[in-house]
Amino acid sequence: GIQASMPQLGEPKKDYDAVRKAIENLLDAEDYDDGSFGPVLVRLAWHASGTYDAASGTGGSNGATMRWAPESEHAANAGLAVARKLLEPVKAAYPWISYADLWTLAGAVAIEAMGGPTIPWRPGRADKASGNDCPPDNRLPDAAQGAGHVRDVFGRMGFDDREMVALVGAHTLGRCHTDRSGYSGPWTNAPTTFSNLYFQELLNNKWRKKRWDGPLQYEDKSGQLMMLPADMALVWDKKFKKYVDLYAKDEEAFFKDFAAAFGKLMELGVPFPAAA
Ligand code: HEM
Repeated sequence: GIQASMPQLGEPKKDYDAVRKAIENLLDAEDYDDGSFGPVLVRLAWHASGTYDAASGTGGSNGATMRWAPESEHAANAGLAVARKLLEPVKAAYPWISYADLWTLAGAVAIEAMGGPTIPWRPGRADKASGNDCPPDNRLPDAAQGAGHVRDVFGRMGFDDREMVALVGAHTLGRCHTDRSGYSGPWTNAPTTFSNLYFQELLNNKWRKKRWDGPLQYEDKSGQLMMLPADMALVWDKKFKKYVDLYAKDEEAFFKDFAAAFGKLMELGVPFPAAA
């Protein structure tokens, strides 16, 4: 009714800077992975958003439907309960923020705190109240596949080649976990710093098939660093490689393109009010 839409007396001011600070305070964790929850928060923001289908307008970060099964149980989302649980105290302290805004803001704050570019972010997402609105499974990319699949999946969201390469550059952060995806290891030696190192490794390191009983992945000579088949596709596909070359030598170009593409990703399908 009318009453519900009127601002309530004493309603808390929506202090997004306070939420940002609360998220920042959660990032460092001596006993988790490489010492930061930043990478898994970036993955949460990405998987919440990357279900978008431009043709039907379904999926995307609006709704925070990953709180519900079946989306929470989609294989691609294995391990993301860690990130969702981590943010619960922030939601409890600032209950006026939607989960959908909180998860995407956490991705932006994490990138910035790890030394990355400023990510364009604005509030406006609403939460959906049940799993009935979950997107279908298999909208997120399959790491075992190549350039055609990467183009199909990100093309479905509305991205071009340049944006796709920039986005996958987020693999400069974090690592693969055998108990989540089946893959193992980090892409770079600085997995909690946002940089263009991923592109440098892709181009300049020597990659060979890892001999193990897990899924096909690539490793460098040290055996410490890894690439997924879908990562290798970025150097094996000539049109993608052009941008790998660019970002490997021009970190500023990468930061600029990544910020724009990641900001766009997190807004796909979000019904922001039309500009006045
Ligand atoms: C991790 C696949 C694109 C950000 C992973 C993992 C896989 C994967 C298999 C390992 C998950 C685990 O075992 O914990 C892919 C594929 C992509 C893609 C196939 C597209 C071709 C992206 C994009 C972003 C992103 C667009 C963000 C903009 C991350 C981050 C991690 C990660 C930050 C590390 C998470 C952690 O350390 O816990 N990705 N990804 N990925 N991905 Fe992607």
